Amino acid sequence: MEEIILKALNSKDDYISGEELSLLIGVSRTAIWKHMQELRKKGYVIDSRSKKGYKLMKATENLDRNMIQTKLETAWVGRELLIFSTIDSTNTEGKRRGAEQLLNGTAILSEEQTAGKGRLGRQWISPKYKGLWMSLFFHPENLEPKDGSKMTILAAASVCRAIEKLTGLTVGIKWPNDLVCNKKKVCGILTEMAADPDRIDWLILGIGINVNLEEQDFPEELKETGTSLKIEKQLSADRGFLVENIDRNALAAEIMNQFEKDSEEFFQNGSIHGILEYYNEKVLVKDRELLIQKAGKALPGIGVGVNEEGHLLVRMDNGELQEFFSGEVSVRGVYGYI
Ligand code: BTN
Repeated sequence: MEEIILKALNSKDDYISGEELSLLIGVSRTAIWKHMQELRKKGYVIDSRSKKGYKLMKATENLDRNMIQTKLETAWVGRELLIFSTIDSTNTEGKRRGAEQLLNGTAILSEEQTAGKGRLGRQWISPKYKGLWMSLFFHPENLEPKDGSKMTILAAASVCRAIEKLTGLTVGIKWPNDLVCNKKKVCGILTEMAADPDRIDWLILGIGINVNLEEQDFPEELKETGTSLKIEKQLSADRGFLVENIDRNALAAEIMNQFEKDSEEFFQNGSIHGILEYYNEKVLVKDRELLIQKAGKALPGIGVGVNEEGHLLVRMDNGELQEFFSGEVSVRGVYGYI
């Protein structure tokens, strides 16, 4: 119902009368009024004037099913949407519900996370209304456990494309799955899975994007290495020009659109071949001096790229080409975070 009302409001630049809406939709004017109140509660700014009717002044900035669905072009990713105001972690919610309750491709989003999870057991700061904290739930048919980490590589490429398309910013990938803007982290990805020895039962792709966080939203220890899309847009804007919040609903939809396209081959046979060229263009390792932190040692080498398995290839100081997988090492640029 709200979807139809919003369509009607959107179709007119001017006011639309309660009577016209009630005829169009087939419910009473009182029912229309009640729906307008509901939409206002969800953050839509709707003006109402006697004798003129209703006019949509501003779409909601909150996470909103309608706003996402109108931009979603997918066949199956995000066709089921769960949106929370607050939750411990969208990944944890995916795990709790599991494959018995969730359709393949379900998207779980929350305005805030009180126990957001990062990689390696770290905490993920997820303040309310500021970011995109989203998990996509999959129960794939043809994947083996070794394919799980490849999904992270794939997702980094899709999210990178979506952010660049929507914001115009230039984003790079810090292998395997951090997205960076001007050398600071703007997005992290946490893939979790349950698997038998030979097949994946479910996969949860957790995507955390610092969208509209301001400087003061970052804890002191992250100020040096973290940033948000809005901060970066502000830095690239002309002096004195204040940038608006970035549309998180549009971003969520764009990510899902992009990911569905990019992942077709992967869900058929576990291959990330189709995105590898783009990933390697974006990954910030090629020809760079790296320090590979492995088992308490920092091994120097020059980055070469990422292979079909999603592994990092590094030319070590002794000339040998070595391959690292994401679980075993952490990579630093010789001169800092990337
Ligand atoms: C990292 O870089 O350490 C990964 C961060 C992943 C954060 C996202 S936010 C949505 C989803 N829910 C979580 O608890 N974590 C992921």
